Amino acid sequence: MLNDEPTPLYGREWELNQLHIIFSRAVALSSAQTILLQGMTGIGKSALLNAFICHLKRAEKNYLLFSTNSCLNHNNPHFFVANFVRSLLLVKAHSEVEIGHQIDLVSSTPLSAIRMRQWADLSLSLAHKQTLRQFSDERLRLLDKTVVSDLLEYLDHKKVQAILIDDAHTLSEQSRYFLSILTQVQCHFGILFILSAQKKNAFTHPPKWLSSAHIIYLKPLDISSMQQLAHHTLLSRDMLPCKHQHRTAIALKRACGNPLFLIQLLCATHPQSELPETLQQLTQHCLNSMPCEVVNTLKFAARIGQHFDTKQLHQFNEHRKIRAPLCVLHKMLSSGLITQDAEHYSFVHPLVWESLRSHAKDLELDWYKHHQSNTQNQVTRI
Ligand SMILES: Nc1ncnc2c1ncn2[C@@H]1O[C@H](COP(=O)(O)OP(=O)(O)OP(=O)(O)O)[C@@H](O)[C@H]1O
Ligand SMILES: [Mg+2]
Repeated sequence: MLNDEPTPLYGREWELNQLHIIFSRAVALSSAQTILLQGMTGIGKSALLNAFICHLKRAEKNYLLFSTNSCLNHNNPHFFVANFVRSLLLVKAHSEVEIGHQIDLVSSTPLSAIRMRQWADLSLSLAHKQTLRQFSDERLRLLDKTVVSDLLEYLDHKKVQAILIDDAHTLSEQSRYFLSILTQVQCHFGILFILSAQKKNAFTHPPKWLSSAHIIYLKPLDISSMQQLAHHTLLSRDMLPCKHQHRTAIALKRACGNPLFLIQLLCATHPQSELPETLQQLTQHCLNSMPCEVVNTLKFAARIGQHFDTKQLHQFNEHRKIRAPLCVLHKMLSSGLITQDAEHYSFVHPLVWESLRSHAKDLELDWYKHHQSNTQNQVTRI
């Protein structure tokens, strides 16, 4: 039996309800409300957004969804904003002339029209380019507020009530700037903004411009919801749950509340020893893209345990003579692989730790063991 039904959303009733409550608040107060949805990879941010969208559709509410992964263009950091602005203009046509007409229709002043054209990546005349170049940052910011207000007024006119942006942690600085204006501008009508992001890059900590946003943190899924998901996953793959009880028990134990890891382990050839496929790719990508000092510090941490502290990192910094330890720490945290609680750090998931550990076998640790036994001797002598 191959099941083509969309996967039901298990165990996120509270979070889904919060989205509805905040949405209703935006409508009731005729104001803009912003939600920042955070959680590690695979925890179910996109799944929750999709479930919320199903409800919006059923209630015949208009919304716009942006998944930054689908409009990422690493060669052009402007790509997302340009697409975003064009989508907010709700033009089906893609010709520059038609988009330009729509901009003239939506803009409240000739200057904001010029700036909106620039954001939408339409060609500008030399005179227009020079006009914008003369603007100070402050004046440009004021102009951007007008651009954003014009766009939002238009969306209100078209009865768009929610704008959802998935994977916001992948956005460029320019895109984040645009969104910061969008989510902070005064609105006299109800609109809900939802940004979903892993705790990484610029979203390692909630950014300042989202200080008045409602933050919803997706915790690991509870065991009974994980069991329901396992059951559903097996059936949808033509596997009888009663014949795969052992596999299910192992996958549930290792996934520790992460739905994506559960799904991948259930279908793995060796669920007891393999790492979820996306996790392998993620760790490999991190290790390849991070500076060598960061990689080695991460490997050292993985060799210590799932949890480690500032003192242990300090010992490693001294041993390796790392010149900018704070910078290394910042990069480690913004990788999304570890979290911090005061002086203590943890890998975000036991399997993330396991994955890093499997890459850390080559790291020489005799100096640390030696250091540890010396310290213990000193303590004993006292
Ligand atoms: N509560 C849930 N019930 C059922 N399935 C879920 C649930 N949460 C997540 N899933 C499933 O787990 C997989 C991973 O979820 P999802 O893609 O939403 O994670 P994510 O948080 O968006 O990850 P990323 O940050 O990598 O984009 C998907 O196949 C999704 O359908
Ligand atoms: Mg996602």
